[in-house]
Amino acid sequence: MIKRKDTVILGIESSCDDTSAAIIKDGYLLSNVIASQKVHEAYGGVVPELASRAHEINIVPVVDQSIKIAGISRDEISAVAYTRGPGLLGSLLVGSSFAKGFAMSLGVPMIDVNHLQGHVLAHFVREKNVPFDPPAFPHICLLVSGGNSQIIIVKDHLDMEMIGQTIDDAAGEAFDKCAKIMGMTYPGGPLIDKLAKIGNENAFKFSKPRIKNLDYSFSGLKTSFLYFLRDRIKENDNFIEENKADLCASLQKTIIDILLDKLIKAVKQTGINEISVSGGVSANSGLQNAMISTAKNRGWKVHIPKISFTMDNAAMIAIAGYYKYQKKEFIGLDAVPFARMNIKE
Ligand code: KG4
Repeated sequence: MIKRKDTVILGIESSCDDTSAAIIKDGYLLSNVIASQKVHEAYGGVVPELASRAHEINIVPVVDQSIKIAGISRDEISAVAYTRGPGLLGSLLVGSSFAKGFAMSLGVPMIDVNHLQGHVLAHFVREKNVPFDPPAFPHICLLVSGGNSQIIIVKDHLDMEMIGQTIDDAAGEAFDKCAKIMGMTYPGGPLIDKLAKIGNENAFKFSKPRIKNLDYSFSGLKTSFLYFLRDRIKENDNFIEENKADLCASLQKTIIDILLDKLIKAVKQTGINEISVSGGVSANSGLQNAMISTAKNRGWKVHIPKISFTMDNAAMIAIAGYYKYQKKEFIGLDAVPFARMNIKE
């Protein structure tokens, strides 16, 4: 017998190098399984073809586990929500093809989710017995990940407007590329965060971009970091090893200063002082502390996500799917993934 009384959304995320599946029932998270791909560590960045293959291997066991952990049966699923883009096309194709097949086999609708909207909505994932205090509307979301750095006005769950974005590298890329220059493995962001805690953030100064509007730029920082190290290594072969913690702390401070500078500007321009931060880089302890102290000084209310909702995860895709389900925003089998998408799509 088919039992579909409640709204049960299966979310699937496969836009980059994490294969994830989650179940949300009536707005509450029941499971969020994430298989992170270790295969990229040795390459200093995500290798698209290896990512697609790993998704292909992971997707069935990850979805199966998410259903088992949630304690539901497949025929309770009301709809399948999946990441349509932006992301790596091969990776997206694995998730979207699986979602189509699975939704068809269950006879339920399919919901396409914009990965960027998913990150923003990570703050709306509700868990049983966990305090729930999502950002009010409108709020500003600083979305910082490996692929994006954006400032977004969030007017409603599915109504968002981007007012600033990176014109080159994302903040996460700045962390990862500078970590690679220092000989660290991918992803370098968490390693820099760890070492920065024992370093002096004022030991070195790196150049900051001069861009007038709310846009970001991080490629100049990466280049100045590279040239700075090249010059120091000429004098001392061991410069990086001897100064690693100070280099990490100074670099991290520069990235945080760049991010906050534009965020403060956005708050001034819009008059909105309810702020959230999302995406992989929002796990950075220095950024979190800086946001909390800036909020205190400037009278903002700030929302920091739980660590498991900062990285790519399917809980955020399932909650976006849940809101789209209520509006009956379903998609047909002819939907194709997109490597590029803006926050409005
Ligand atoms: O959102 P996410 O999982 O996926 C992408 O959009 O790629 O973000 C991954 C990014 C990577 O660049 C990683 O280095 C960065 O988030 N990241 C961090 C930290 N944890 C993850 N960056 C700085 N500090 C962290 N603690």
